[in-house]
Amino acid sequence: MSAPQDRIRLEGVARKFGATIAVYPTDLAVAPGEFVVILGPSGCGKTTTLRMIAGLERPSQGSIHINGKDVTRLRAGERDIAFVFQMFSLYPHMTVKENVAFTMLAQGLPATEAGRRAVDMLRRLGLERLAEARPGALSGGDQQRVALARALVRSPQAFLMDEPLGTLDGSLREEMRESLRDIHNRSGATTLLVTHDQEEAMSLADRIAVMKDGRLIQFDHPRTIYDSPANLFVADFVGSPGMNILRARREGEWIALAGLDLLLRVAEDGDVEGVTANKGPGGECRLGVRPENVLLSENGAPCVVEHTEALGSHNMLSLRMGEGFLKAWIPAGIRFNEGETVRVTFLPSGCRWFDGVSGEALPWRTLEAACRPTR
Ligand SMILES: Nc1ncnc2c1ncn2[C@@H]1O[C@H](COP(=O)(O)OP(=O)(O)O)[C@@H](O)[C@H]1O
Ligand SMILES: [Mg+2]
Repeated sequence: MSAPQDRIRLEGVARKFGATIAVYPTDLAVAPGEFVVILGPSGCGKTTTLRMIAGLERPSQGSIHINGKDVTRLRAGERDIAFVFQMFSLYPHMTVKENVAFTMLAQGLPATEAGRRAVDMLRRLGLERLAEARPGALSGGDQQRVALARALVRSPQAFLMDEPLGTLDGSLREEMRESLRDIHNRSGATTLLVTHDQEEAMSLADRIAVMKDGRLIQFDHPRTIYDSPANLFVADFVGSPGMNILRARREGEWIALAGLDLLLRVAEDGDVEGVTANKGPGGECRLGVRPENVLLSENGAPCVVEHTEALGSHNMLSLRMGEGFLKAWIPAGIRFNEGETVRVTFLPSGCRWFDGVSGEALPWRTLEAACRPTR
C-alpha cells in the first residue's frame, strides 16, 4: 500500500540490463512539493531510476506509485509527469508568451485561455516583462527560465530533471541553480532532479538520495548527509573537500589514530549489526572529520604544514600527517609558512566513526580528544 501523502513512491524497484544490474531493489518516497535530488557518480543508476519513474524504462521488478496510484504498467504519456531533459528548446519565431502557451494549444486549449494561463505562469515566476520578447533577445538565463515556465504550465504531478544544468558553465550555472530553486518554491511543484555535483545537490535539495553502484546509500536532509554520512563513501563524496578519513585502532579505553598523536575517547550509544572488526583491543576503525572541525590548539598533536591556500573567507591548510594529509580550514587572519609545525586537535562533536571493514557509520559519540603523551 502506498501512503496517500507520497507524490512518488518506489517499492523495491530494480532494473537489469542483461547481466548488468543498473539499479538494485530500491524504496524511495517523495512528498508533494518536495525537491529531491538524486546524487551519485557517473554510472551509479541515476538516469535509469528517473527513466523508470517517467515510464521510459520498465523496472525488472518492484512497483512505482504516483499520488497513491500504481503506474508501473502505464506508459510515459499516461503518468502526468514532465521529464525535462535539457532546457534550451524555445521556438525562436514565437514570443515568450506564445512559447509558454504552445503546449496548451497543442493539447487543444482555446487560444485565449492558453494565453491567459501563460501570462499567469510568467507572472508567478517573475518573468512577465518578457512576455512579448522573442527568445533570441533574451539572456541565456532568461531563456532557461522561460523554458522552465513552459514545462511548469502543464502543472503535472512532478518534474523529473536529468542533469538539467549539465551543459552550462560557471556563473550561468550558479544563476540557474538559484532560479530552479526559486521557481520550484513559487510553483509549489514536486521536483526530482539528478546530478553528480554534490554542491548542486546541497544547494537545491530538501532531501538528497545518494546512490552508488546501483544502490541507494542514504536519503536525508542535506545537513544530515553532510554532518552524519551513512558510510565512508558519502563522507568522502559530499563536501569540498570531503571528510578527512583517518585510520584508527582501539587501545583500551582510547582510540589511537595512525599518523597523528591524538587519542580519542568514545561512548558507544548503540550496537550495530554486523560490526565486529572494531570490537575490542586492536580492532580497526576509521575516523572522519571535516576540515572545519580540525582546530589549532597549543595542546594538540604536531603536524607539518605542507601547503596553504588563501580562500578569502578562510585559509585551507594541507597538513602532513604520517603518510597522508589532513585538510584544515583556519580563519583568514592566521598565516603559516610551509614547513612550519602546527598543533591540532579535533572538535569532539565533529568526529564521526566508521567500521574499519564495511565502512558503515558507527553510533559512537566522541567524549574527548587528547594529545598522546610523548614517550
Ligand atoms: N540501455 C542500457 N543498456 C545497457 N546498459 C545500460 C543501459 N542504460 C544504462 N545502462 C547501464 O546501467 C548503469 C547505470 O546507468 P545510468 O542509470 O545511466 O547511470 P547514471 O545516470 O548514474 O550515470 C551503467 O552501468 C550503464 O552502463
Ligand atoms: Mg545519467
